Amino acid sequence: MRIDILTILPELIESPFNHSIIKRAKKNKIVEIFIHNIRDFSNDKHKRVDDYAFGGGAGMIMKIEPIHKAIMHLTKQRDYDEIIYTSPDGELYNQKKANHLSTLKNIIILCGHYKGIDQRIRDNLITQEISIGDYVLTGGELAAAIITDSIVRLIPGAISDESSALSDSFQDGLLASPVYTRPATYNGWKVPDILISGNDKLIETWKFEQSVERTNKLRPNLLND
Ligand code: ADE
Repeated sequence: MRIDILTILPELIESPFNHSIIKRAKKNKIVEIFIHNIRDFSNDKHKRVDDYAFGGGAGMIMKIEPIHKAIMHLTKQRDYDEIIYTSPDGELYNQKKANHLSTLKNIIILCGHYKGIDQRIRDNLITQEISIGDYVLTGGELAAAIITDSIVRLIPGAISDESSALSDSFQDGLLASPVYTRPATYNGWKVPDILISGNDKLIETWKFEQSVERTNKLRPNLLND
């Protein structure tokens, strides 16, 4: 899979992809992640990427020209399955969307900033708008990092124990069951006896019951969905 991220703050988004699972996935050519500076596509002599809003109003708007050029630069070279714009007024992101995106070949993620981007980009070039939650970030970079992280770990081969991505919280619409590791007793706090019983069947049933119980208690909306 190939992910191209368009941003005016490339340094802000580089680090999350240089560690752990994502770093290894890149090294093993499971994913390619390219970060492009939108400023490089500006014809303006001061490389400006924002301007005042037509009709007035507070805040600057990301200009159409450098974004259009950046997207064209990429789409001329290959087909893209989705051109995503990160924005608080996009569709709420969830595991189902991550699963779907992880099956695609090429995607672009455009990070929003200021008061937004010129609407003509959204109307004519963007295929999907995603919000990572009902709150406003200073820019779309962190949202793009979250979306990318959640996608890459799902690509087969990214996680060595593939079944572990499938048993994540949300993957079957349930929260994951609690997990423990050694020692079995610490500070007088004990691991549930069932987990050290050695009875795989009972352990599976216990895990499922715990998942249902935790989902019911913490996120009952997931059960209704
Ligand atoms: N940009 C600013 N806030 C955002 C959010 N909640 N989700 C995605 N992109 C954003």
